[in-house]
Amino acid sequence: IYPGSFDPITNGHLDVIERASKLFDHVVVGVLSNNSKSPMFTAEERVRLIQEAVRSFPNVSVAHFEGLLVHYVEENKLDVIIKGLRAISDFEAEFQMASMNRRLGQGTETVFLMTATRYSFLSSSLIKEVFRFGGDINGLVPDHVLAYMKLKQR
Ligand code: PNS
Repeated sequence: IYPGSFDPITNGHLDVIERASKLFDHVVVGVLSNNSKSPMFTAEERVRLIQEAVRSFPNVSVAHFEGLLVHYVEENKLDVIIKGLRAISDFEAEFQMASMNRRLGQGTETVFLMTATRYSFLSSSLIKEVFRFGGDINGLVPDHVLAYMKLKQR
């Protein structure tokens, strides 16, 4: 499972998903629906935007989950948590979460993929901020995501 808020999915996320799909038999993109951050998109919208983005990857599916990630992992008999690491600054929080998830999930491992350097500065929150103030985010999110953001803005 590749878990996240995906508010919205970026080309950095998509790069991790594509590479994970070559390493694992099946990848579930898990969208957290009870996010404490107030999201720009509903869980359903986020799932739909991801489904559209991963249409060409036959072994990738999209689901949303609530509550603890390890509970979803156990209920669905998933094996591995996949995370993308962008920079050293991600390390501390990811180390905490991987350690907690290994403890809670009785051994559930987290595998980290280094994000492509061309996307290593990307985050969904930065995308939203730049977009809100009229900056160009073309090429940083899938085209249909940008189109949907413009639609929502109107
Ligand atoms: O895209 P994000 O917001 O950085 O993803 C964070 C996410 C969804 C992976 C993390 O918040 C998470 O796993 N939340 C589910 C609740 C949970 O299990 N919390 C304890 C983590 S140790």
